[in-house]
Amino acid sequence: MGRPRQRRGGLFGSSLFARPHRSARVCYALPTIPTPKTHYLIHMTDPSKLREDYQRGELLESTVPSDPFLLFKEWFQYAVETKQPEPNAMTLATSTPDGQPSARIVLLKEYDERGFVFYTNYHSHKGHEIDTNPHVALVFLWLGLERQIRIQGTATRISAPESDAYFASRPRKSRLGAHASPQSQIIESRDLLDERWQQMEQAFEGDVPRPEHWGGYRVEPTMIEFWQGRSSRLHDRIVYDRLGDDWQIKRLAP
Ligand SMILES: Cc1cc2nc3c(=O)[nH]c(=O)nc-3n(C[C@H](O)[C@H](O)[C@H](O)COP(=O)(O)O)c2cc1C
Repeated sequence: MGRPRQRRGGLFGSSLFARPHRSARVCYALPTIPTPKTHYLIHMTDPSKLREDYQRGELLESTVPSDPFLLFKEWFQYAVETKQPEPNAMTLATSTPDGQPSARIVLLKEYDERGFVFYTNYHSHKGHEIDTNPHVALVFLWLGLERQIRIQGTATRISAPESDAYFASRPRKSRLGAHASPQSQIIESRDLLDERWQQMEQAFEGDVPRPEHWGGYRVEPTMIEFWQGRSSRLHDRIVYDRLGDDWQIKRLAP
């Protein structure tokens, strides 16, 4: 028995992955897979069979700036301009003082030479971890560009006026959401969340002030690594280590 023929635009063609299945719009159900072709799909989805050779760019010590924020700005702007999905999404890793790590995605909202700012609920799981252990890590992944940026540093709360200014710029619905959601706490049901949101909508007829437990953290970096995928797994890794007011640049093996 030969391998099933791959049909362009069919079940195994690119269109399945290019747009959501009809039912996905309603309930995110997976499309039904016809039995005779199941073994082929298993082959296609076996992670050990997935391989990409990265060839989109290179990163050389001779061309990088001495200031990592300049390189960050260049890469971030390029990710936005080339329409990478959610280009400001980054993984934030925190950990308890005794070393139990946890990680999740948050959105970068500001950055400058002082660091990288995201917003969250200070009473959330991550908020409690940062308050007891401010050492954190961030990871940006722009797969379409075969690029990754890793950051290590210390997170501190930004000032209340800074958080106020950003909160005021958010859509009203999001501002109400910040009041309605006790982030990271166990809740009885989805309905309860919706009810809380409705209550908040009635409670705040006009302006929606920032809840005190909601605000920004700034991650001040001590290390920033720029990773560019290269062929044969010989990727480029350029690391900037903070040394006082300066940065020391080194290359790491991939
Ligand atoms: C694309 C994306 C963006 C997100 N942005 C944020 C964010 O900016 N701030 C935030 O608190 N949570 C954000 N979340 C939700 C977090 O990943 C996480 O579920 C939440 O913050 C609770 O995490 P914790 O319980 O570890 O504190 C985002 C999730 C995704 C998938």
